[in-house]
Amino acid sequence: MRLSVNIDHVATVRQARRAREPEPVTAAALAELAGADGITVHLRGDRRHMQDRDLRLLRDVVSTRLNVEMAATDEMMSIASQLKPDQVTLVPEEPGEVTTTGGLDVAANHDAISAAVGRLQEAGIVASLFVDPDPEQVSAAGPTGATAVEINTGPYADAPVARQAAEIVKIQQAARQARADGLEVLGGHGLTYVNVGPVAAIPEIVELNIGHSIIARAVLVGLERAVREMMALVR
Ligand code: PXP
Repeated sequence: MRLSVNIDHVATVRQARRAREPEPVTAAALAELAGADGITVHLRGDRRHMQDRDLRLLRDVVSTRLNVEMAATDEMMSIASQLKPDQVTLVPEEPGEVTTTGGLDVAANHDAISAAVGRLQEAGIVASLFVDPDPEQVSAAGPTGATAVEINTGPYADAPVARQAAEIVKIQQAARQARADGLEVLGGHGLTYVNVGPVAAIPEIVELNIGHSIIARAVLVGLERAVREMMALVR
């Protein structure tokens, strides 16, 4: 199982103060040193966290695989064609949402999504679609020309404990279906140190994409050292 680390929230902390630190590119290098198989960032239309400059720096520095989540807009497809990340994951984007709220409606937007996939592939970029674990959406993915899907694990992560087993079954079935269609299968959204186990055990899923929980833990496990270092300076 590969792990791609989503470092959006390093930029969230920086943007909260419009400051110079922390630099996402430094976080990417540290994640790679720790063994991450890839780095993921989401370039949102509103530039809430990642900025265009971050993507240019990351493209230069990331030596594993750079995966950029984007909406299938003209603006984003032009940026991707110039930047040439290793992979683009097409995601829906709603104005004002706190985070991505669900998978793409691939079935209803076949033409627009196929056109975006075509533009990415012309630029030599692997195209992946973020889809809910729903048979209709999974079966609509292959015909767009995309070669990978990322199955939305958010409904499983958000489910009360009593419903989690049923949500895992949906992810297993979606993963099996996508693999049978010849797609590479990834998963992500809402995964934590507590809930990742059953998803990591699904054999068809080859990569997980995890952000919030890793950055949240980094803040806590790193705080003691950070305080000690400042104490040494102020005393
Ligand atoms: N996959 C997709 C498509 C996402 O939009 C996100 C959040 O940016 C993630 C995975 C990572 O989710 P989380 O931050 O909850 O680990």
